Amino acid sequence: MTKSKDSEFLKIRKLFPVTDRKKGITYLNSASTGPLCRPVKDALYNYYEMTQYLEKSAIDHLAFASLDNIRKQGALLLGAHSDEIGFGFSTTYGLNIAAFGLPLKSGDEVLLSDIEFPANVYPWLALNERGIRVKFVKSVNRRFNLENLRKAIGKRSKVLSLSFVQFFNGFKNDLPEIGRICREHDIYFIVDGIQGCGNEPLKMNDANIDIFASGAQKWLLSPLGTGIFYIRRELQDKLRFPFASWLSVDWKLNFTDLFHYDLPFFDAARRFEMGTYPYAHVFALEKALELINSLGVRHIQRHNCALLDELIYYLNSERQFRITSSLEEKHRSSILAFTCDNAREIHKEVVRNKIIASFREGSIRVSPHLFNNQSDIRRLIRVLQGKK
Ligand SMILES: Cc1ncc(COP(=O)(O)O)c(C=O)c1O
Repeated sequence: MTKSKDSEFLKIRKLFPVTDRKKGITYLNSASTGPLCRPVKDALYNYYEMTQYLEKSAIDHLAFASLDNIRKQGALLLGAHSDEIGFGFSTTYGLNIAAFGLPLKSGDEVLLSDIEFPANVYPWLALNERGIRVKFVKSVNRRFNLENLRKAIGKRSKVLSLSFVQFFNGFKNDLPEIGRICREHDIYFIVDGIQGCGNEPLKMNDANIDIFASGAQKWLLSPLGTGIFYIRRELQDKLRFPFASWLSVDWKLNFTDLFHYDLPFFDAARRFEMGTYPYAHVFALEKALELINSLGVRHIQRHNCALLDELIYYLNSERQFRITSSLEEKHRSSILAFTCDNAREIHKEVVRNKIIASFREGSIRVSPHLFNNQSDIRRLIRVLQGKK
């Protein structure tokens, strides 16, 4: 990392009240929920201030400009075109566009990993009543396995929906390779992106992704209830409408003359958005995306991995601990999980010391982000060593 990047990270750390030493908290849990920084919190507050005095139509103009910027910032983040990006409320929202929008019929099969977060399972299971079956691909050593994927693909396989990064052990799937396999077999490739979006660089076309869904409440550092989705340009016209919104057509911000029921839907992913928009959250998400893009995801990835390197070095030097994440360059991520005989107790001790990390599937999960620094990791190591 260059010196100037280091100082940018330092500057950004100061924007996050959670890093204030007086509070005594060490937050290493962005895989659960990202903390808000001041510019994002201010965007929420400014909106509530504004609504007390401003004409609604003036706010409409501001919010729709922010929505345009969100689509631009989302496109920058995902190597896509802004016409392919929409504002969603969560990962679930984008995954439901995929599950209920893709042209599937009775007898078709959806492939899922058997270690997915449930957000990427229930929407697909709900297709059962239309005769669409889910087939789980067996993982090996709690990692998605390409051999088993190849074996699972059959004539009726029409969709694969998979996490970018596994939530519990941080295993980063090789999306370009998996996307190639999907393309070869004419299978739609859907990605639950939330655990990699904002910490791992990815370009939609490089991985042949058809639909990508991500909540913004974790690594994008935006409030709960915000998210983005990507829908590949050529797929948009083939999708059925899982729902239709009055704001999926162009009113040109003139909401005074509304008895027009024949307006064409936007020729862009935004037609799958749902109005009326939660403006406070729109302003907040815009600020959060700007922050991530100002640093650049590649720099964030390097920063987070460098922090985890120090923890890995310590864990490997202690026989008591076993790292349950992959350390292979192409499969590691900003999430590191490790365990030991008394992992639950150790986790409780960590939390008692105001170090916030999660316990998932038998392992302690640590997930540092752009506002963390080496002293945060060293604090964790001290507690693991039994020191305070
Ligand atoms: C992989 C993964 N997908 C989805 C979610 C959450 O989905 P949503 O944003 O719809 O609440 C989480 C965590 O909360 C997750 O780890």
